[in-house]
Amino acid sequence: MGDYIVELDHIGKSFPGVKALDDVQFHLKPGEVHALLGENGAGKSTLMKILCGIYERDCGEFSVDGKEIHSFSPKIAQALGIAIIHQELNMCSHLTVAENIFLAREELSFGLINQKSLNDKAKQVLHKLKLNIDPTTMVGKLPISKQQMVEIAKALSTNARILIMDEPTSALTENEIKELFRIIRELKAEGKAIVYISHRLEELKEIVDRITILRDGKYVTTRNFTDTSIPEIISFMVGREIKEKYPRVERKRGNKILEVKHLQAGMVKDVSFDLYEGEIIGFAGLMGAGRTELVRAIFGADRIESGDIFLEGTKVVIKSPMDAIRVGIVCAPEDRKKEGLCTELTIRENIGLANLDTICNRVGLIHEKKEIELTHRAIQDLKIKTPSITQEVKNLSGGNQQKIVVGKWLVRKARVVIFDEPTRGIDVAAKVEIYNLMNQLKEEGIGVIFVSSELPEILGMSDKIIVMCDGRITGEIARRDATQDIILSYATQYRVKKEVNGYGGK
Ligand SMILES: Nc1ncnc2c1ncn2[C@@H]1O[C@H](COP(=O)(O)OP(=O)(O)OP(=O)(O)O)[C@@H](O)[C@H]1O
Ligand SMILES: [Mg+2]
Repeated sequence: MGDYIVELDHIGKSFPGVKALDDVQFHLKPGEVHALLGENGAGKSTLMKILCGIYERDCGEFSVDGKEIHSFSPKIAQALGIAIIHQELNMCSHLTVAENIFLAREELSFGLINQKSLNDKAKQVLHKLKLNIDPTTMVGKLPISKQQMVEIAKALSTNARILIMDEPTSALTENEIKELFRIIRELKAEGKAIVYISHRLEELKEIVDRITILRDGKYVTTRNFTDTSIPEIISFMVGREIKEKYPRVERKRGNKILEVKHLQAGMVKDVSFDLYEGEIIGFAGLMGAGRTELVRAIFGADRIESGDIFLEGTKVVIKSPMDAIRVGIVCAPEDRKKEGLCTELTIRENIGLANLDTICNRVGLIHEKKEIELTHRAIQDLKIKTPSITQEVKNLSGGNQQKIVVGKWLVRKARVVIFDEPTRGIDVAAKVEIYNLMNQLKEEGIGVIFVSSELPEILGMSDKIIVMCDGRITGEIARRDATQDIILSYATQYRVKKEVNGYGGK
């Protein structure tokens, strides 16, 4: 007994229409990194929300330091030294970095916040993470990866002894991930217990001691990481074997469908490329290479300064996403919470909104039957886990929310579909579903633009790979010639050149 800092046994938790947890156990030791694994909607976040007092369990036993917990709340959890880094960013974008880190714990002197001491303290926490961020910056101005690091800094600042990390790396750059792992090792050496949730199974070997697997709200197993293997973990998670990780289909490309010429927009400099019917172009590059900026410009979300876009040979003027959608260019954006979804609305409303033109009749009335049909199709195609089509999107698991961002466009007729990091936070089996959808689009003769930071999936799914660095295209590689090394050398080329030649201009 005494070995465990947290013991959760026979835990049950239901939401209307969903049994999120059913007889689940989870035991955590001090000084260990314990991965909690399972497919989207398996119940991982729900279990962790019980552990930090956000949800109340319906039944089961729960003890911390061997003492049974009866009533629990986030305040009690904090007092016991439990902190959580949430899966969905929880930052207030209109507050500064320092204010976010110390939110709800701000020290008041005569009722006023002492900004200077707040900023100084934030600086120390950021320094520990080797983060070069000014604590007075508004959080909304930071890119997602930096916001995620601030979220991590916030949890670390509480000096918790039980730290829950719900998919902390899904939006981080390689270097930030390295820093995070360094910190995790330090915390572990200090005897802290860490719960680590991630869909990136390859990274587990870096830090994880034990794993617990959930499937469909039920407990499957707990193992020492060294006593198992990734294929075994996947089969525990999914309940079956996944044969092909990257199910590519071969298809002869058709006519040229999209032509981008000398596009200039913000950091994007002089970008030209062609996309053909039934072709998947993978855009690779390091975080900040300008890939998201490029696709945002093509989709009309950012202003195009100069350059031309031709669709099936005709020049198109795209000044807003509406213009893009009208000509048949759709986009599943990177930041799903801010741009991809109305989380307060239901699944049906989200799908309906994206497809208003197809479900409205001539006088603008929504054809309900069509809307329902489209929604069911998206749920079926992507295996979205939900009790009904009227579930509010905010109540879905993180991965299932992402499936809706992608799914709402897939049910409409498009010519070009842009995916910006579509598999972030999505489990192994669901990834394959998204790849299959890309293949389906490809077979229908649609052109696909696929931005991803995961090289294996870029290599696995693209017909052509375009590499960007510092806002420019630095390489275009046919699938058969592409390797990780070649892509990486192009991805860093501009930077290397700059250093070698002392070339500082843009
Ligand atoms: N507040 C809520 N109201 C209704 N249903 C909910 C709520 N929170 C979670 N659920 C449901 O409970 C189930 C478990 O969700 P949970 O978020 O715990 O999954 P998860 O394992 O964290 O998945 P992911 O990997 O996608 O983040 C899902 O079916 C989800 O839709
Ligand atoms: Mg989750």
